Amino acid sequence: MRKKIIAGNWKMNKTPNEALALCQSLKEQVNSQEVDVVFCVPFVDLYPVLEAVKGSSIAVGAQNMFYEDSGAFTGEISPAMLTEMGVKYVIIGHSERRQYFAETDETVNKKLKKALEHGLIPIMCCGETLEQREQGITIEFVRMQIKAGLQGISKEKAEGIIIAYEPIWAIGTGKTATAQQAQEVCQAIRQVLEELFGADTAQKMRIQYGGSVNEKNAAELFAMPDIDGGLVGGASLKPEFAQIVQYK
Ligand code: PGA
Repeated sequence: MRKKIIAGNWKMNKTPNEALALCQSLKEQVNSQEVDVVFCVPFVDLYPVLEAVKGSSIAVGAQNMFYEDSGAFTGEISPAMLTEMGVKYVIIGHSERRQYFAETDETVNKKLKKALEHGLIPIMCCGETLEQREQGITIEFVRMQIKAGLQGISKEKAEGIIIAYEPIWAIGTGKTATAQQAQEVCQAIRQVLEELFGADTAQKMRIQYGGSVNEKNAAELFAMPDIDGGLVGGASLKPEFAQIVQYK
């Protein structure tokens, strides 16, 4: 049985003081043994959040990193900077980064490899636009994103990667994919993972759904056979995140 993983993606929200207050209000209720809980927070919030979750089972993740170890890359953050702080996870290739910061499957692939080299657990995002869904090319497109993003990664390394399927039309819009729509794509993702790494590895890898997950739809989504939890944006900043973690 794959353990569910529920990650909050805070995006560009919460100053360090606000982050501290949010952690304090959520900490007790999301300190779960049954599911893995991760707070993916802005870089400047990492330190206060890491301090605030000490003594709980909550893990901390970053929302991005660069694919080089160090050097003249003004404004970037290296994986070693993250691991030294105690950060365990890193979101790679979120659609907002692809849309606003020109990330491509190629940079996603480089970042994934670098994250793995440093022992970070990547949460690799994929997902189609509304236009692609309407054209009926969702599965084809997502398959391509997965293959390109995971190119050259060994089966042993792949096992630790988390995939987040996030249809772009469902992000921040309040329009969630139905549990069936989400399951259909997550199943197709597991199928590509099987083609790339074999059935054993594909069965071990965790696939999240993301896009307007809330306390009302979480249970139905997470009950689907190929959905192993969620990447939660807006609702991860609210008290209802606790209900999402306790979705059963
Ligand atoms: P949302 O965002 O839950 O606010 O739709 C999800 C995400 O972008 O990870």
